[in-house]
Amino acid sequence: MSSESAPTLPGDWLWGNLKDFNRDNLSFIESAARAGDLVRIRFGPMGGIFVNHPDYVCQVLAARSKSFRKPAVVKRALNDILGENIFTSNGASWKRSRQALQPAFHRRHVDRYAQIMLDCAERELCGWQADSIVDLEAAMIRVTMNIIAKTMFDADLGDYADELTAVFTRLFHLAYKRMALYALVPNWLPTRDNREVKRLTAELRHLLRRYIAEWRAGRANDASLLNLVLAPAPKMSDEQLINEAITIIGAGYETTAYTLVFTWLAMMQNPAVMDRVYAEVDETIGSRAMTLEDLPAFDYTERVVKEALRLYPSAWGLSRSTLEPVEIAGVTLMRNSMVLVSPWTLGRDPRFFPDPLRFDPDRHLKENAASIPHYAYIPFGGGGRTCLGIRFALMEAVIIIALIAQRLRLEPEPGSASGPKSVAFTLRPNGPMRVKLSPRNGAANAYTKPASAGSRLCNTHNGMSPCPHFG
Ligand code: HEM
Repeated sequence: MSSESAPTLPGDWLWGNLKDFNRDNLSFIESAARAGDLVRIRFGPMGGIFVNHPDYVCQVLAARSKSFRKPAVVKRALNDILGENIFTSNGASWKRSRQALQPAFHRRHVDRYAQIMLDCAERELCGWQADSIVDLEAAMIRVTMNIIAKTMFDADLGDYADELTAVFTRLFHLAYKRMALYALVPNWLPTRDNREVKRLTAELRHLLRRYIAEWRAGRANDASLLNLVLAPAPKMSDEQLINEAITIIGAGYETTAYTLVFTWLAMMQNPAVMDRVYAEVDETIGSRAMTLEDLPAFDYTERVVKEALRLYPSAWGLSRSTLEPVEIAGVTLMRNSMVLVSPWTLGRDPRFFPDPLRFDPDRHLKENAASIPHYAYIPFGGGGRTCLGIRFALMEAVIIIALIAQRLRLEPEPGSASGPKSVAFTLRPNGPMRVKLSPRNGAANAYTKPASAGSRLCNTHNGMSPCPHFG
């Protein structure tokens, strides 16, 4: 294949494809995918390529990852918010961060975080009344934010979770606006947006500095993520720690929250799947409290989450730029070319997933998953920069779904979201996610507090008295 054999996606003479991309990210990448497996694109002055075949994706993310880096535009848009951090850094700096953070995400530690996940999910559910209507999006964001803060700092955010998520949401929105303009406006220019970024970042860093000071003063328990990060890297400064903390919170809460939202959406649209989840939950825990030992039994529920991630990958696009000229399948990319890969288009490609729009969790059964090409299913990325939080996120999602399914049936309210749309870096529902809760077979009222599970019950009630809604 010669360099000319990669088709060029038509675009504006000045902005190239940037306007189409900004107008509707998902439609844009779908049109690029229709044009071929390697398609030339241009965002303003920056030329690049859309890569949409697992073999070529493997080249970018894994086999020749040393020739690629995170793009400068991402770094420029985020550097005054996140500082030097695992997500945007490259080379030796990335390696240092990855080595420092990776042990904290080891299986044996993540298993310990499961208790925190159970506690936080229980606390959220205590606020849910049978026969009421819940804003599922807000609830999932609240619970995932509470979980990550508790895991990391041993901090109980309580009602502050909503405020903290508002700060993160706004900051990411402003960072995305910068990227939409290809980060051409310098961050130091005192524009209204830049001043707001400065104010919110200062607020956030101030809060995290306080958590870190409290944690250094010995308030956090031994299993907190920070302890695990600092054990192998005791020299990490507070500022570096804050950078990594903001990054992990930012990378971890919203992606998982929206995965939960889309898993529920998919289940509500596929009642047979929902019934199998209910059956698995009933068989595994019935109406008793869930324990960590139950988790391996939620095999089907985990496959449902994986399937939701195929159709609704919350990180729908991954980007890189070339560090040197690179050739992929005969197509030459010049140094500093932008490379775009999409878990969204790959996960919906009939070549790799027959009848792709059918929601079928059994695609992820071991024997079936073997026929999915490597790098066709990449909701968590791939290669050396694969998501650090895979186990964390899957475990968290399964716990939250199982706890809800144990007690409640969810039905969408009229006018609720029917699918996804893309907003900034993540997929969001295309409408409100208001769901009606009804008790399942009286299970909500049959929930009883087992004698040994004080902390597993609703924290608000301290495990001392039954939760008013589920007790
Ligand atoms: C369902 C939820 C999640 C999804 C879909 C997701 C997706 C991803 C993806 C696609 C990447 C790779 C980005 C790239 O290559 O450009 C990534 C990286 C990362 N994720 Fe996740 N993530 C999730 C949850 C989490 C959680 C819960 C945490 C931490 C608690 C986390 C921490 C990270 C970190 C630190 C990186 C950067 C890794 C590196 O560059 O070395 N993620 N995530």
